[in-house]
Amino acid sequence: MNSNKVIKHFATRATTFSKNGWADNEAILQTILNGIMIFCPSTEMLLDFGAGTGVVSKYLIDKIPNIMKITALDISSDMLSQIQDERIQCVVSSVDNTPFHNSQFDLIVSRQCLHYVHDLTKTLAEAKRILKNHGIFILTQFVPLEDDTKQYWKKLMEIRQPLRVHHYSENDWIKCFIKNGFSLLSTERFTIVNSVARWTNQYTMISNEKKQKYISKLLNAPDSYKLKYNIAIEGTDIIGKTYGVTLVFES
Ligand SMILES: C[S@@+](CC[C@H](N)C(=O)[O-])C[C@H]1O[C@@H](n2cnc3c(N)ncnc32)[C@H](O)[C@@H]1O
Repeated sequence: MNSNKVIKHFATRATTFSKNGWADNEAILQTILNGIMIFCPSTEMLLDFGAGTGVVSKYLIDKIPNIMKITALDISSDMLSQIQDERIQCVVSSVDNTPFHNSQFDLIVSRQCLHYVHDLTKTLAEAKRILKNHGIFILTQFVPLEDDTKQYWKKLMEIRQPLRVHHYSENDWIKCFIKNGFSLLSTERFTIVNSVARWTNQYTMISNEKKQKYISKLLNAPDSYKLKYNIAIEGTDIIGKTYGVTLVFES
């Protein structure tokens, strides 16, 4: 089952995850804060779905004026054990079956988690159950461009992130949430620079053979892909653009 593999995978990454190069990227975190300040500035009860090492929760806790409580939920106790901030309550659970009461939260934030989760219908029904009426769900995900490069991005991700279940674009995420009873309030896009060397140095659990397979696939990408994702060799590194989006939904 994917959950067991996810737990095992993040156990090996827990101590280094927060320094992965994008986790503490201010521009990404700011898009989440923007969504909160525009659509739910009076949030008192916030849940971080797939909170990991709590980078998002820690960033938000001092910035939301009325916040009473942040709950960080994750399937990996190893990731949560890195949080160690007594203002953040940690709960080990899967996002599709949580221990919370109905209508407990004003807001759920979730960054780079839902692509690991098989049953998004069950998960979004659970989110609706624990959110208050008209509660807000802020989703942040890295996504492919919605064009002829989408299929190649998927092939690269299948090598780089074998535990990823969904390879959704921005539109796919929007359709998925709308199908499950949410309405879209806003979209804020961002891009970051991705370094292959940083990835290969950090992901020591991935075999060299797999890393080489990824590098060769990237270097042999169609010209249209290389152009749109700005793939370039820089010294001994290969860099490129990663696209992402923060979507604000109402339940
Ligand atoms: C890439 S990390 C992102 C962590 C954090 N949201 C952040 O952006 O810094 C993905 C996290 O999702 C968690 N996760 C994956 N599947 C999950 C599930 N079914 N329920 C809860 N957490 C899950 C993983 O354990 C991991 O901590």
